Amino acid sequence: MQIIITEEYPKMSLQAARFIAKKILAKSNLVLALPTGNTPLGLYCELVRMFKEGLIDFSEVAVFNLDEYLGLPPQHPQSFRSYMHKHFWDHVNLRPESCYIPLSSPKNPEAECSRYEQLIGSYGGLDLAVLGIGENGHIAFNEPGTPFESLTHVARLSPETRAREASTFGGLDKVPTHAITMGIKTIMHAREILLLASGEEKASALSRSLKGPVTPETPASILQLHPNLIVIADSLAAKQL
Ligand code: GLP
Repeated sequence: MQIIITEEYPKMSLQAARFIAKKILAKSNLVLALPTGNTPLGLYCELVRMFKEGLIDFSEVAVFNLDEYLGLPPQHPQSFRSYMHKHFWDHVNLRPESCYIPLSSPKNPEAECSRYEQLIGSYGGLDLAVLGIGENGHIAFNEPGTPFESLTHVARLSPETRAREASTFGGLDKVPTHAITMGIKTIMHAREILLLASGEEKASALSRSLKGPVTPETPASILQLHPNLIVIADSLAAKQL
């Protein structure tokens, strides 16, 4: 495990973008898993800037989102599909057919999970999974208690995760109860993992995940067992390390 601590959030974002840019320079058809949330917003800004400056070419890259809410129309402003269009996909030269995210209103959610897992497999698996972390130690939507053996599956969102999103959805009752998420095994199969953490509210989860016992109660703790884990955290998130 390699831990890089940056002074502030903008530096964390820049370091993460440079890390990804290097990977794409080394392998133009890189297969990435990508997160949503506040943490990677600066990273996407930097990647877009680097693309506009001619430093990165995404034309052969494939991107798979870690997760998507269930029960939202795809164009819903809070869907992760909308987020990705707005913050990343629409501003770089990724081919639209190489941008993958689980369907938010599939007829058969279980079949959608298998299809997604197979799609990742058809690319030969993930080269690099970029992750954020929840305050309860979740990764993607693998909430505490999720078996480490899980593949892409339908997940029930924890009360704290739903409560955190209540204001963005305009009320707790409007926050989806379920999501489709890559499983912990799907993520652990990535050849390399980049974990990003920013802000004091992540300090406890980050230290439990990186230094505490490996337990499904802290899903990100399994990352300690990954052979190629890089953590980039700002100083507030790294406070308890
Ligand atoms: C959501 C996402 C995760 C993300 C987490 C933290 O639950 N499914 O992928 O890492 O939130 O979000 P934030 O970066 O906004 O703190």
